[in-house]
Amino acid sequence: MNITPDLYNNCNYLQQRDGKRLIQRIVDDFPDKHFNTIVDLGCGTGNITNELATKLSHQSIIGVDISEPMIKFAAENYRRPTVQYLAADICDEWPKFKDKLQLAEHSVDLIVSIYCLHWVSDLDETIKNIIKLLKPGGYCYILLFSWSDLLPIQQKMAIMDKWQQYFFAIPKNWNRIAKKSRETIRKLSEHLAPFPVFEAPDEQQLLAKWRDLCRDNGLHEPETVLTHTYYQFANHQQFNNVLQAMCHFLPYIPDDQTADFMAEYLQLVNDDYISKQLLNGKLVQTTNETPVRLNYDHMIVVTHIPV
Ligand SMILES: C[S@@+](CC[C@H](N)C(=O)[O-])C[C@H]1O[C@@H](n2cnc3c(N)ncnc32)[C@H](O)[C@@H]1O
Repeated sequence: MNITPDLYNNCNYLQQRDGKRLIQRIVDDFPDKHFNTIVDLGCGTGNITNELATKLSHQSIIGVDISEPMIKFAAENYRRPTVQYLAADICDEWPKFKDKLQLAEHSVDLIVSIYCLHWVSDLDETIKNIIKLLKPGGYCYILLFSWSDLLPIQQKMAIMDKWQQYFFAIPKNWNRIAKKSRETIRKLSEHLAPFPVFEAPDEQQLLAKWRDLCRDNGLHEPETVLTHTYYQFANHQQFNNVLQAMCHFLPYIPDDQTADFMAEYLQLVNDDYISKQLLNGKLVQTTNETPVRLNYDHMIVVTHIPV
């Protein structure tokens, strides 16, 4: 994932809106609770960790992210006496992960993870770490993307002659491969590809996957909710900034070609999406000032360790 902290921090409108909603849900679920220790997995630049600190009564919050620049940014910009930011990979095996976090086994009351877990390469290991961290009765609230209108456009880029060589996990004839084989390739390439989803996953399968992940690892049967939703960006410029801040393809492209890749990507998004916006039920010819509505699906998974 390619993210420049200050660019991301100025553009995560959607993540902030949804993250704040999830935090409000936690406030509503535990109106009077004081949390001793809260961990934010994949805290990014810390602006949502800061929201957690503002909204939830707590003794200590640890924001964890694999990216050193993110952690540095968070520590510089969202410093608070009760909040610590630490760099760690949440897919690391428990002994290594524990050492980085300097937390005892079963010492955390609440784990929150906002728009991170669709990125991780080893969800089983992540869930194991969540279980090791949580106290009996400890809760875990996860928010993650399950689909976005941008994915088919990104896939189109990834199978273009010019760019396909950098996305080895996506076969060139992807659209002509039988659905069952696509599913197999998708599973095999989950840990290799820039994004583990190339086409809308079957919703029931996705929900079942998360239920199984929680259940098989000893977590309580989770609440899983998949929501079709959208975010309306103010205008083309704002949307283009978001695309640039969050283009997870860039680390796969050689440095001397990233500007070229980005220009083509923005053009494709413009041609295939922005210029054909359906606003208030009507297909409108957009101008630079027209808002851009991004349709996407997200999932909320809420679970806990049985007491
Ligand atoms: C889209 S950002 C979300 C950041 C923040 N939660 C927010 O909502 O603004 C995803 C974050 O997950 C982090 N991340 C991805 N894989 C990770 C891993 N294996 N361990 C820890 N953090 C990870 C990335 O570095 C990135 O900062």
